[in-house]
Amino acid sequence: MAAGDVYPELRSSLLKRGGTVMLIGGPDTGKTTFSRRLLADAIAQGIVAAYVDADVGQTTTGPPACAGLRFVRSRKDLDDLHKADELRFVGSTSPDGLVLQQVVATAALVERARQEADFVVVDTTGSVSGVIGQTLKYHKVELVAPDTVVALQRGREMEPIIGMLRRFFGIAIETVQALRQAESVAAAQRRSNRIEAFTREFAPPLQKWRVLPTVFAPTLPAGLDLSRLHGILVGLLDDHGRCLGLGILEHDGGTLRVATNKGDDMKGLRLASLRIDPETFATEKVRLRQLMFGV
Ligand SMILES: Nc1ncnc2c1ncn2[C@@H]1O[C@H](COP(=O)(O)OP(=O)(O)O)[C@@H](O)[C@H]1O
Ligand SMILES: [Mg+2]
Repeated sequence: MAAGDVYPELRSSLLKRGGTVMLIGGPDTGKTTFSRRLLADAIAQGIVAAYVDADVGQTTTGPPACAGLRFVRSRKDLDDLHKADELRFVGSTSPDGLVLQQVVATAALVERARQEADFVVVDTTGSVSGVIGQTLKYHKVELVAPDTVVALQRGREMEPIIGMLRRFFGIAIETVQALRQAESVAAAQRRSNRIEAFTREFAPPLQKWRVLPTVFAPTLPAGLDLSRLHGILVGLLDDHGRCLGLGILEHDGGTLRVATNKGDDMKGLRLASLRIDPETFATEKVRLRQLMFGV
Protein backbone atom coordinates (compact mmCIF):
# COMPACT_ATOMS: atom_id res chain seq x y z
CA MET A 1 0.00 0.00 0.00
CA ALA A 2 1.33 3.46 -0.85
CA ALA A 3 1.96 5.61 2.19
CA GLY A 4 -0.45 8.16 0.65
CA ASP A 5 -3.37 5.81 1.16
CA VAL A 6 -3.10 5.27 4.89
CA TYR A 7 -6.48 4.97 6.59
CA PRO A 8 -8.42 7.33 4.26
CA GLU A 9 -11.81 6.93 6.00
CA LEU A 10 -10.28 7.60 9.40
CA ARG A 11 -8.49 10.68 8.07
CA SER A 12 -11.65 12.16 6.66
CA SER A 13 -13.61 11.56 9.85
CA LEU A 14 -10.82 13.09 11.97
CA LEU A 15 -10.80 16.21 9.80
CA LYS A 16 -14.56 16.49 9.97
CA ARG A 17 -14.41 16.29 13.76
CA GLY A 18 -11.52 18.83 13.86
CA GLY A 19 -9.89 19.98 17.09
CA THR A 20 -6.84 18.20 18.43
CA VAL A 21 -5.79 14.70 17.39
CA MET A 22 -3.07 12.92 19.33
CA LEU A 23 -1.29 9.98 17.73
CA ILE A 24 0.15 7.32 19.97
CA GLY A 25 1.91 4.08 19.11
CA GLY A 26 5.19 2.22 19.42
CA PRO A 27 8.30 3.01 17.36
CA ASP A 28 7.82 2.82 13.57
CA THR A 29 4.06 2.25 13.70
CA GLY A 30 3.53 5.07 11.17
CA LYS A 31 2.59 8.00 13.46
CA THR A 32 4.63 10.58 11.56
CA THR A 33 3.59 9.28 8.15
CA PHE A 34 -0.06 9.43 9.21
CA SER A 35 0.45 12.96 10.64
CA ARG A 36 1.81 14.19 7.32
CA ARG A 37 -1.15 12.71 5.45
CA LEU A 38 -3.63 14.34 7.84
CA LEU A 39 -1.88 17.69 7.45
CA ALA A 40 -1.90 17.35 3.65
CA ASP A 41 -5.66 16.70 3.77
CA ALA A 42 -6.15 19.76 5.97
CA ILE A 43 -4.26 21.97 3.49
CA ALA A 44 -6.32 20.58 0.62
CA GLN A 45 -9.49 21.62 2.47
CA GLY A 46 -8.15 25.07 3.32
CA ILE A 47 -8.01 24.32 7.05
CA VAL A 48 -5.33 26.08 9.09
CA ALA A 49 -3.48 23.24 10.79
CA ALA A 50 -0.60 22.83 13.19
CA TYR A 51 1.78 19.99 13.92
CA VAL A 52 3.15 19.49 17.42
CA ASP A 53 6.10 17.11 17.40
CA ALA A 54 6.51 15.73 20.90
CA ASP A 55 8.87 12.97 19.74
CA VAL A 56 12.16 14.16 21.26
CA GLY A 57 14.15 11.20 19.95
CA GLN A 58 13.09 10.53 16.35
CA THR A 59 12.32 14.17 15.89
CA THR A 60 10.61 15.71 12.85
CA THR A 61 10.24 19.39 13.79
CA GLY A 62 13.18 21.19 15.37
CA PRO A 63 16.21 19.54 16.99
CA PRO A 64 16.24 16.46 19.24
CA ALA A 65 15.63 16.96 22.98
CA CYS A 66 12.97 19.59 22.17
CA ALA A 67 9.28 19.51 21.35
CA GLY A 68 8.50 21.50 18.20
CA LEU A 69 5.54 23.32 16.70
CA ARG A 70 5.02 23.96 12.99
CA PHE A 71 2.02 25.84 11.64
CA VAL A 72 0.87 24.22 8.40
CA ARG A 73 -1.03 26.55 6.10
CA SER A 74 0.44 25.54 2.76
CA ARG A 75 2.19 22.70 0.97
CA LYS A 76 5.46 24.55 1.52
CA ASP A 77 4.98 24.52 5.31
CA LEU A 78 4.46 20.78 5.13
CA ASP A 79 7.54 20.30 2.94
CA ASP A 80 9.54 22.20 5.57
CA LEU A 81 8.07 20.40 8.54
CA HIS A 82 11.54 20.23 10.12
CA LYS A 83 11.51 24.03 10.55
CA ALA A 84 9.98 24.90 13.90
CA ASP A 85 7.83 27.97 14.51
CA GLU A 86 8.30 27.45 18.24
CA LEU A 87 10.32 25.09 20.42
CA ARG A 88 10.13 24.00 24.03
CA PHE A 89 13.10 22.42 25.72
CA VAL A 90 12.76 18.91 27.18
CA GLY A 91 16.37 17.88 27.75
CA SER A 92 16.67 14.32 26.58
CA THR A 93 16.03 12.10 23.60
CA SER A 94 13.92 9.70 25.66
CA PRO A 95 11.28 10.51 28.25
CA ASP A 96 12.83 8.48 31.11
CA GLY A 97 13.12 10.77 34.11
CA LEU A 98 11.76 13.76 32.20
CA VAL A 99 8.03 13.06 32.07
CA LEU A 100 7.21 16.45 33.60
CA GLN A 101 9.32 18.39 31.09
CA GLN A 102 7.95 16.35 28.21
CA VAL A 103 4.30 16.78 29.17
CA VAL A 104 4.56 20.50 29.92
CA ALA A 105 6.51 21.22 26.72
CA THR A 106 3.91 19.41 24.64
CA ALA A 107 0.96 21.09 26.35
CA ALA A 108 2.50 24.56 26.01
CA LEU A 109 2.95 24.06 22.28
CA VAL A 110 -0.55 22.68 21.81
CA GLU A 111 -1.97 25.70 23.60
CA ARG A 112 0.05 27.98 21.32
CA ALA A 113 -1.05 25.99 18.25
CA ARG A 114 -4.73 26.33 19.16
CA GLN A 115 -4.49 30.13 19.15
CA GLU A 116 -4.10 30.06 15.37
CA ALA A 117 -5.00 26.63 14.08
CA ASP A 118 -8.36 24.90 13.79
CA PHE A 119 -6.81 21.47 13.50
CA VAL A 120 -3.86 20.35 15.63
CA VAL A 121 -1.99 17.07 15.12
CA VAL A 122 0.16 15.88 18.03
CA ASP A 123 2.85 13.31 17.22
CA THR A 124 4.40 11.53 20.20
CA THR A 125 7.33 9.34 21.24
CA GLY A 126 7.18 5.58 20.76
CA SER A 127 7.37 5.08 24.53
CA VAL A 128 4.08 3.30 25.18
CA SER A 129 4.80 0.56 27.65
CA GLY A 130 5.72 0.11 31.26
CA VAL A 131 5.26 2.66 34.00
CA ILE A 132 7.10 5.45 32.16
CA GLY A 133 5.18 5.05 28.89
CA GLN A 134 1.83 4.84 30.66
CA THR A 135 2.52 7.71 33.05
CA LEU A 136 3.68 9.86 30.16
CA LYS A 137 0.60 9.18 28.04
CA TYR A 138 -1.74 9.57 31.02
CA HIS A 139 -0.49 13.04 31.89
CA LYS A 140 -0.09 14.12 28.29
CA VAL A 141 -3.74 13.35 27.63
CA GLU A 142 -4.72 14.93 30.96
CA LEU A 143 -3.04 18.24 30.13
CA VAL A 144 -3.46 18.42 26.34
CA ALA A 145 -7.08 17.19 26.44
CA PRO A 146 -7.19 16.01 22.82
CA ASP A 147 -10.57 15.60 21.12
CA THR A 148 -9.45 12.30 19.64
CA VAL A 149 -6.61 9.87 20.26
CA VAL A 150 -5.51 7.58 17.45
CA ALA A 151 -3.67 4.50 18.69
CA LEU A 152 -1.56 2.67 16.11
CA GLN A 153 -0.78 -0.75 17.37
CA ARG A 154 0.88 -3.99 16.36
CA GLY A 155 -0.99 -6.94 17.79
CA ARG A 156 -2.56 -5.74 21.03
CA GLU A 157 0.36 -3.76 22.44
CA MET A 158 -1.64 -0.55 22.97
CA GLU A 159 -4.58 -2.16 24.81
CA PRO A 160 -3.35 -1.28 28.35
CA ILE A 161 -2.95 2.41 27.45
CA ILE A 162 -6.20 2.52 25.48
CA GLY A 163 -8.07 0.98 28.40
CA MET A 164 -6.52 3.42 30.82
CA LEU A 165 -7.31 6.50 28.67
CA ARG A 166 -10.93 5.35 28.20
CA ARG A 167 -11.38 4.70 31.90
CA PHE A 168 -9.91 7.96 33.17
CA PHE A 169 -10.62 10.50 30.43
CA GLY A 170 -13.57 9.18 28.44
CA ILE A 171 -12.20 10.58 25.18
CA ALA A 172 -12.79 9.15 21.71
CA ILE A 173 -10.07 6.67 20.83
CA GLU A 174 -9.66 5.26 17.34
CA THR A 175 -7.58 2.13 17.21
CA VAL A 176 -5.92 1.03 14.02
CA GLN A 177 -3.68 -1.88 13.24
CA ALA A 178 -0.25 -0.55 12.23
CA LEU A 179 0.56 -1.73 8.75
CA ARG A 180 2.84 -4.70 8.70
CA GLN A 181 4.65 -3.26 5.69
CA ALA A 182 5.91 -0.42 7.83
CA GLU A 183 9.61 -1.00 7.54
CA SER A 184 11.40 -0.96 10.85
CA VAL A 185 14.02 1.72 11.20
CA ALA A 186 16.86 -0.15 12.80
CA ALA A 187 18.66 1.17 15.88
CA ALA A 188 21.59 2.25 13.72
CA GLN A 189 19.25 4.19 11.46
CA ARG A 190 17.66 5.94 14.43
CA ARG A 191 21.08 6.95 15.70
CA SER A 192 22.08 8.31 12.30
CA ASN A 193 18.76 10.22 12.00
CA ARG A 194 19.53 11.83 15.32
CA ILE A 195 23.10 12.70 14.36
CA GLU A 196 21.79 14.25 11.15
CA ALA A 197 19.33 16.34 13.18
CA PHE A 198 22.12 17.54 15.50
CA THR A 199 24.34 18.28 12.48
CA ARG A 200 21.59 20.54 11.12
CA GLU A 201 21.20 22.23 14.51
CA PHE A 202 24.93 22.88 14.93
CA ALA A 203 25.61 24.00 11.36
CA PRO A 204 28.70 26.21 11.37
CA PRO A 205 29.69 28.90 12.00
CA LEU A 206 29.11 28.45 15.73
CA GLN A 207 29.60 31.38 18.05
CA LYS A 208 31.01 30.91 21.53
CA TRP A 209 29.32 32.98 24.20
CA ARG A 210 30.70 33.36 27.68
CA VAL A 211 28.28 31.92 30.24
CA LEU A 212 27.82 33.16 33.79
CA PRO A 213 26.92 30.41 36.26
CA THR A 214 23.86 32.43 37.35
CA VAL A 215 21.89 32.04 34.10
CA PHE A 216 20.80 28.44 34.58
CA ALA A 217 17.37 27.13 35.54
CA PRO A 218 17.45 25.44 37.95
CA THR A 219 20.29 27.40 39.56
CA LEU A 220 23.63 25.62 39.75
CA PRO A 221 24.62 24.50 43.24
CA ALA A 222 27.10 26.79 44.99
CA GLY A 223 30.68 25.66 44.59
CA LEU A 224 30.02 23.36 41.62
CA ASP A 225 33.19 22.54 39.71
CA LEU A 226 32.18 24.05 36.36
CA SER A 227 34.53 21.76 34.45
CA ARG A 228 31.96 19.02 35.08
CA LEU A 229 29.63 20.78 32.67
CA HIS A 230 32.04 20.46 29.72
CA GLY A 231 30.25 18.86 26.78
CA ILE A 232 26.76 19.07 28.29
CA LEU A 233 23.99 19.86 25.82
CA VAL A 234 21.92 22.91 26.77
CA GLY A 235 18.72 24.57 25.66
CA LEU A 236 18.90 28.33 25.00
CA LEU A 237 15.81 29.99 26.42
CA ASP A 238 14.29 33.39 25.71
CA ASP A 239 12.27 35.44 28.20
CA HIS A 240 8.99 33.72 27.30
CA GLY A 241 9.98 30.16 28.21
CA ARG A 242 10.59 29.39 24.56
CA CYS A 243 13.62 27.49 23.40
CA LEU A 244 15.64 29.24 20.68
CA GLY A 245 17.78 26.19 19.93
CA LEU A 246 20.57 24.10 21.38
CA GLY A 247 24.12 24.76 22.51
CA ILE A 248 27.10 22.80 23.81
CA LEU A 249 28.93 23.88 26.97
CA GLU A 250 32.70 24.20 26.88
CA HIS A 251 34.92 24.67 29.89
CA ASP A 252 38.37 25.95 29.15
CA GLY A 253 40.90 27.77 31.33
CA GLY A 254 38.34 28.39 34.06
CA THR A 255 35.79 29.92 31.67
CA LEU A 256 32.44 28.43 30.73
CA ARG A 257 31.19 29.08 27.20
CA VAL A 258 28.30 27.88 25.07
CA ALA A 259 28.84 27.02 21.41
CA THR A 260 25.71 27.72 19.36
CA ASN A 261 24.35 29.53 16.35
CA LYS A 262 21.10 30.50 18.10
CA GLY A 263 22.44 32.71 20.88
CA ASP A 264 21.25 36.17 19.82
CA ASP A 265 18.21 36.51 22.09
CA MET A 266 19.07 34.00 24.79
CA LYS A 267 18.23 34.95 28.36
CA GLY A 268 19.21 31.75 30.10
CA LEU A 269 20.21 28.13 29.76
CA ARG A 270 18.80 24.76 30.77
CA LEU A 271 20.90 21.64 31.05
CA ALA A 272 19.99 18.54 29.11
CA SER A 273 20.60 15.10 30.60
CA LEU A 274 23.00 14.48 27.73
CA ARG A 275 26.66 14.95 26.99
CA ILE A 276 27.37 15.42 23.31
CA ASP A 277 30.54 15.04 21.29
CA PRO A 278 30.92 18.30 19.31
CA GLU A 279 32.61 16.47 16.43
CA THR A 280 30.48 13.36 15.98
CA PHE A 281 27.31 14.45 17.85
CA ALA A 282 27.23 11.07 19.56
CA THR A 283 25.41 11.47 22.86
CA GLU A 284 25.58 9.78 26.23
CA LYS A 285 23.09 10.05 29.06
CA VAL A 286 24.08 12.01 32.15
CA ARG A 287 22.33 11.98 35.49
CA LEU A 288 22.21 15.64 36.40
CA ARG A 289 21.78 14.99 40.09
CA GLN A 290 24.95 12.95 40.06
CA LEU A 291 26.75 15.59 38.01
CA MET A 292 25.71 18.38 40.39
CA PHE A 293 25.85 16.75 43.76
CA GLY A 294 27.92 13.65 43.16
CA VAL A 295 25.10 11.40 44.46
N1 LIG B 1 1.27 3.07 5.50
C1 LIG B 1 2.54 2.79 5.31
N2 LIG B 1 2.93 1.97 4.32
C2 LIG B 1 4.22 1.67 4.13
N3 LIG B 1 5.22 2.14 4.89
C3 LIG B 1 4.91 2.96 5.88
C4 LIG B 1 3.55 3.32 6.18
N4 LIG B 1 3.56 4.12 7.26
C5 LIG B 1 4.85 4.27 7.61
N5 LIG B 1 5.65 3.57 6.79
C6 LIG B 1 7.13 3.48 6.87
O1 LIG B 1 7.46 2.96 8.16
C7 LIG B 1 8.57 3.65 8.72
C8 LIG B 1 8.19 4.26 10.05
O2 LIG B 1 7.13 5.20 9.83
P1 LIG B 1 6.99 6.50 10.72
O3 LIG B 1 5.80 7.21 10.21
O4 LIG B 1 8.27 7.24 10.75
O5 LIG B 1 6.70 5.83 12.13
P2 LIG B 1 6.69 6.48 13.60
O6 LIG B 1 6.54 7.96 13.43
O7 LIG B 1 5.54 5.83 14.29
O8 LIG B 1 7.98 6.08 14.24
C9 LIG B 1 8.98 4.70 7.69
O9 LIG B 1 10.06 4.19 6.95
C10 LIG B 1 7.74 4.86 6.83
O10 LIG B 1 8.08 5.23 5.51
MG1 LIG C 1 7.77 9.52 14.14
